[in-house]
Amino acid sequence: MRIMRLTLVLLQSQCWLCVFLSVCVPAVVGSLPHALPWHVSCPVRCVCQIKPWFSPDSAYHEAPTVDCNDLLLTKLPLPIPLNTHTLRLQSNLLSELDTAVLHGLPNLTDLDLSQNRFSHVKRITQSSSLPSLLCLHLEENHLSHLPEASFSSLPALQELFLSHNNLRSIAPGAFTGLDFLLRLHINNNRLTTIDPQWFRALPCLEVLMLGGNPVEALPERGFLALKSLRSLVLGGMGLRGLAEKALEGLDGLESLSFYDNLLTKVPTQALRRVPGLKFLDLNKNRIKLIETGDFRDMVHLKELGLNNMEELVSIEKAALENLPELTKLEITNNPRLSYIHPEAFLQLSRLESLMLNSNSLSALHQSIMLSLPSLREVSLHSNPLRCDCLFHWAAVEASHPHTEKETDTQTARMVRFIQPQATLCSEPPELRARRVREVPSREMSASCLPMIPTSSLPSYVGVKEGSKLVLHCRALADPQPKLYWVTPSGLKLGPVLNHTSKGSPAPCLKTSKGLNHTSTFSISPSQVHDGTSCNTSKFYRLLPEGTLEIKKVTSSEAGLYTCVAENALGADTRTVTVGVHSREKKRKRGMAANLNGFPLFRGNVRFEVREVGEHYAILSWQSGRNLPSTRLSWQALYSNAHTPTYTTRVLAGTQSFNLTHLQAETFYRVCLHLGISEGAKPASRRSRESKKPQCVSFRTKDVTESQPSLQLSPELTSTAVTLLLLAIILLLLAGQVWDTDLGEGAGKLQSTLLQEIKSPKALIINQTTKRSNKHQPKQNEKLLLVQDC
Ligand SMILES: *[C@@H]1O[C@H](CO)[C@@H](O)[C@H](O)[C@H]1NC(C)=O
Ligand SMILES: *[C@@H]1O[C@H](CO)[C@@H](O)[C@H](O)[C@H]1NC(C)=O
Ligand SMILES: *[C@@H]1O[C@H](CO)[C@@H](O)[C@H](O)[C@H]1NC(C)=O
Ligand SMILES: *[C@@H]1O[C@H](CO)[C@@H](O)[C@H](O)[C@H]1NC(C)=O
Ligand SMILES: *[C@@H]1O[C@H](CO)[C@@H](O)[C@H](O)[C@H]1NC(C)=O
Ligand SMILES: *[C@@H]1O[C@H](CO)[C@@H](O)[C@H](O)[C@H]1NC(C)=O
Repeated sequence: MRIMRLTLVLLQSQCWLCVFLSVCVPAVVGSLPHALPWHVSCPVRCVCQIKPWFSPDSAYHEAPTVDCNDLLLTKLPLPIPLNTHTLRLQSNLLSELDTAVLHGLPNLTDLDLSQNRFSHVKRITQSSSLPSLLCLHLEENHLSHLPEASFSSLPALQELFLSHNNLRSIAPGAFTGLDFLLRLHINNNRLTTIDPQWFRALPCLEVLMLGGNPVEALPERGFLALKSLRSLVLGGMGLRGLAEKALEGLDGLESLSFYDNLLTKVPTQALRRVPGLKFLDLNKNRIKLIETGDFRDMVHLKELGLNNMEELVSIEKAALENLPELTKLEITNNPRLSYIHPEAFLQLSRLESLMLNSNSLSALHQSIMLSLPSLREVSLHSNPLRCDCLFHWAAVEASHPHTEKETDTQTARMVRFIQPQATLCSEPPELRARRVREVPSREMSASCLPMIPTSSLPSYVGVKEGSKLVLHCRALADPQPKLYWVTPSGLKLGPVLNHTSKGSPAPCLKTSKGLNHTSTFSISPSQVHDGTSCNTSKFYRLLPEGTLEIKKVTSSEAGLYTCVAENALGADTRTVTVGVHSREKKRKRGMAANLNGFPLFRGNVRFEVREVGEHYAILSWQSGRNLPSTRLSWQALYSNAHTPTYTTRVLAGTQSFNLTHLQAETFYRVCLHLGISEGAKPASRRSRESKKPQCVSFRTKDVTESQPSLQLSPELTSTAVTLLLLAIILLLLAGQVWDTDLGEGAGKLQSTLLQEIKSPKALIINQTTKRSNKHQPKQNEKLLLVQDC
């Protein structure tokens, strides 16, 4: 079972090599002649035929072949015809060979001893020289060690199979004498280190299969001797990283596979040392981000595979840049991959095939399509696609005449979809299950709200005390959203660091030296409260794409972190609970330890009115906590009257709010409801929201006489009847008793009436606003027109 699995792994990684690998076994290719009869006295139960055969350097032979596979043999069958070219003894019970018999076969070229019981290689190669042997199969035997000069009696050998044995050690000179070896298969053994001395004897080696050995690190310059190597397979080894000089000297290397390792980053520095690379396989690693410059200037790269990565969340800006030969890019089956930056791919002038199926992508930005002039096909099926503003490039032809930009999208539309039947919309609800290619452009909105994919940001993250916390937040939308974070202490980080900006909650930001691609700053959480001294003990690092990093987490960093993605249309927020697992209390679950008794408020929240105008009021508060589900409610106060209460949700990290569209000369009562419920896992229901909202009252200013807010018709002001009528309408509409002094003039009354009618609609988040943008995702986290100072 295990072997089966390993073989599968190997097969998968070998697939990348098929291009120039022909395996040293009798080829059974359709167009070639099949086996011919070979009239010779054949050993009992064996089959003797003339069969087509290719040498490792691809020369064709009609090879006299003796086939004794699967016969439970414990010794060589006799007689073996003298001119035997290929002798197949696969899957028997051999542990020893009568080497004298083989010695008597002057033309023996291919000897297959795989799946037998050999435990000492010398039993095969000792004492007899096989000068014409080109291929030796010893895979799936019981070899555990290769002594010095193991194969010196096989001077012509071109291909040696030693895979799936138990090799734990190989003597430095084990391969001495194999001057013409082209391919060496030592994958799937138990080697823990790679000894550069092995390769000194192999100046002609072109293909080296090393995968499936538990090697955690490659030595620096380990392959320096392999000047002719074209293909290197390092799959399934447990590599966690790659030394900068690990691949040095592989000047001829064209194909490289790191399939199924533990790499957490693209080994960019090491890859720079193999400029001739054409095929690169990084599938099934633990890479989280494909970062800016990870694949840059690899001028011969033709195919790149970034598939099956459980942890990959994002392809960043300029991740692939200047790869002039790249024709095929595969980024598939990455369950958390939800974001590809609109400018992720730069100068990929030959890219024809872009495989992005089976990820968590919500869209493929039009900029990506427009940046790939040679693109012919794209695969997007099995993604949670959002068929709104971002998919115009793929939509059915619009009936309008083309503009310049439309011609570009026209080109994008020519791109063939692979499996168009399975490329379906999953958002917005009214387009769900429609085929992306069949949704007309007019059914898509022109712009859309940001959406933070759940796959990139889980609702709970546990970290060990002292380790690094990394939270990735990404959002696609049109216009491009800005992202910022709110820490548990209510500190707002980002989006743009501006030291001088008014009311900045982080007065003590320090951009660190030498990190131009990142905004790095240090700030003490305590500073939010006292706001004076600058404690640099803490490091928050906000990367430009929206990743928040905190080094050396302590238990005081536990709590709620909220990411906000905001564009002109509105915002999306997502809150993640961070639990810090202390080192001592291993048994206790970190979250329980840290969030029980999670103090919602420290002291009193100061909620106050900062400024009042005729039609607005600016409110501010300080909580010292991240309270992602904070709401404001307000109500006009008239004596003897019930007026409607309006509420709005406030974006996380916001500490002040401009309440607009108020009536002049009116009393208002505004309440602040602080809560943490959204997205978080509060310890108890009680802590979901504060018990008592904080409220303030104020009166809006009088209308100044000079302000010509309304053009009054003379008839209106002069006619007492009209005035009376208006008052009645007012009473009917609002259902309120007005104790306003009617003598003050009709103009003001009318103005009040107008304000009342069109009043706070814009501020209310509910169906009213949703109707205005019908493709907006149905999430109550979307906030509209929320201001932030
Ligand atoms: C070995 O091969 C050569 C050339 O292919 C041939 O001339 C010779 O007869 C063969 N030897 C035997 C013993 O069959
Ligand atoms: C910071 O903000 C000020 C005004 O608010 C602006 O003039 C300045 O360009 C901004 N600086 C940066 C680096 O964005
Ligand atoms: C960072 O950018 C500044 C100019 O913006 C430049 O002078 C400096 O060399 C850059 N530093 C690094 C490490 O790239
Ligand atoms: C900075 O914070 C650390 C703990 O976070 C504290 O021990 C230290 O006294 C603080 N320093 C200042 C100058 O506030
Ligand atoms: C608050 O809103 C009002 C009305 O829109 C506006 O006139 C005022 O300048 C705003 N104040 C601030 C500080 O943004
Ligand atoms: C939207 O507002 C109306 C009244 O204006 C109210 O009845 C309704 O419950 C509100 N909907 C939501 C989701 O708040």
